Order: sequence, then structure tokens, then C-alpha cells
Amino acid sequence: MPSSASARRPVIVANWKTYLGMVESVRAARAIRGFLARIAGKEADVVLCPSFPVLPEIHEILKGSRIHLGAQDLHHEPPGPYTGDVSAAQLRGLVRYAIVGHSERRRFHGETDDIVARKAHQAFRIGITPIICVGETAEERDRGETITKVRQQVEAVVRDLPRLSLSRCIFAYEPVWAISTGQGEERPQPEPADAAHLVRLIRKVAAERVGSQTAEQIRVLYGGSVTARTVRPFVAEPGVNGVLVGSASTKPAEFVSIVRGVVDACRS
Ligand code: PGA
Repeated sequence: MPSSASARRPVIVANWKTYLGMVESVRAARAIRGFLARIAGKEADVVLCPSFPVLPEIHEILKGSRIHLGAQDLHHEPPGPYTGDVSAAQLRGLVRYAIVGHSERRRFHGETDDIVARKAHQAFRIGITPIICVGETAEERDRGETITKVRQQVEAVVRDLPRLSLSRCIFAYEPVWAISTGQGEERPQPEPADAAHLVRLIRKVAAERVGSQTAEQIRVLYGGSVTARTVRPFVAEPGVNGVLVGSASTKPAEFVSIVRGVVDACRS
């Protein structure tokens, strides 16, 4: 019998990073909206996460569709003297989701587990659902520290969040070594069964804090070099509720195939 979490609509998140300019983002959003009119919001929750400058424009494009908008990050403090940052309050009414704790933020901006937890907190205060990314680096994997690392990252977030907030969280297990570099080379991916093992660990850590009934409601995704060709076995694994897609999501036709692949795999 499917768990309540796996019986829920799958989530497919497009993380455009800084790949697309203004015009390309608008074009991609329009194309995706057209292609996914019948699927989005019915068979899958689709979330587009463009860069901050284009959020208002994409918000307009997605109006009246069931495709949701997400930010790629938000600041961990309430509004204040933080030059160059974007607070959760500034995103109110614009986005429904925000990615927090992406490995590129952790790596290039020194974001700690504590900061990620505070971001998740800020998101909830404004009614934004955080998509919390966790995952080990290649070095951590090689030292046999994957479980410890992921457990630590999840614990930092679940420690302080109220039960209700936690049940609405989305987590994404993204092994850092599987995330594409944008240079065009193929990255290794984990075995789908191994990714699913980590997905179960995320839910287990949450369950230790809030009980398994609440933890079952948390949706957990896989991310790292997902393409239309590779997506199905990941979402076919029990407990994996969708995918977080980077570079492949910037090509509308490819992204649409990924969404269709997820929907097909979850139906069968
Ligand atoms: P990728 O990125 O699909 O380009 O590997 C995934 C991510 O970083 O979220």
C-alpha cells in the first residue's frame, strides 16, 4: 500500500539558477505553461524557480495556470540592513515556494545548517513553503559520512520547526557530486535505490522529532542531473515524491518530458 506521502501528487521543481536571461526566462515560462496546462496542479505540482529579477514577470505569465512560482533562495533574517539580500517578506504574494540550503549556497556563500534552518523559519512566517536541500559531497561520501551528514543537515532544520510547519516542508536529497556543473559533462548519479534510502532517512529523522504520521506528509524529492532519460527509476522508488531539476529544466521541451515521465512513473 502506498504511504500517504507517496500517494500525494508528485512535485517537479525547475531550478533555473543563473542559466537564463530575462527574455529566455519569459519564453521558457510561456512554453512550459502552454505544454503543461492539462497536467499541472492535477497530476503533478510543478514549480518554476527563476532568478529574482524576473519573478514579477513570470508571476504574471503563470497567473491563471496551476503552475507555481518559487524563489531560489531567501534571507534568513527579517527585513533589515542586509544589502543585496531578499527577505521572505519581500517575496510575499509573489512566490509560494523557496529553495533553501542548496549546495551551491552552502558552498559559495558559506551557508551553515543553522542559517538554512533560519531560512526555513523565515519562509514559514510568510506562508512560503521551503524546499530544503540536503546532500553529501564526494569527499564525505568517500569517507563513508553520507548518513551522518544528511542526518545532521535534516536535524538542524527539524529541531525548531513547529509540527504543522514541518508537515508542509519539502526536502530534496541532492548528492552534491551528482549535480551538473553546467560544463556539459555527464555527472554520475546514485543508484535510484540508494537515493531512496536517503529519502527514507530524511523522513525517519523528521519522524524522530514529530512522529511518523506527520513525517509521512513531508514530500521528499531527488535532485542531481535529472533528465527525461534518467528520471523514471528515481520516482518509481517508494517514498520519492518527485524531482528537483537544474540544467535540464531550462529547456522547456526537456522539462515537459521530465514532468510527463514523473506522472507516468507515479501512475504505474
Ligand atoms: P542539475 O541541478 O539538475 O543541473 O544537476 C540540480 C540542482 O542543483 O538542484
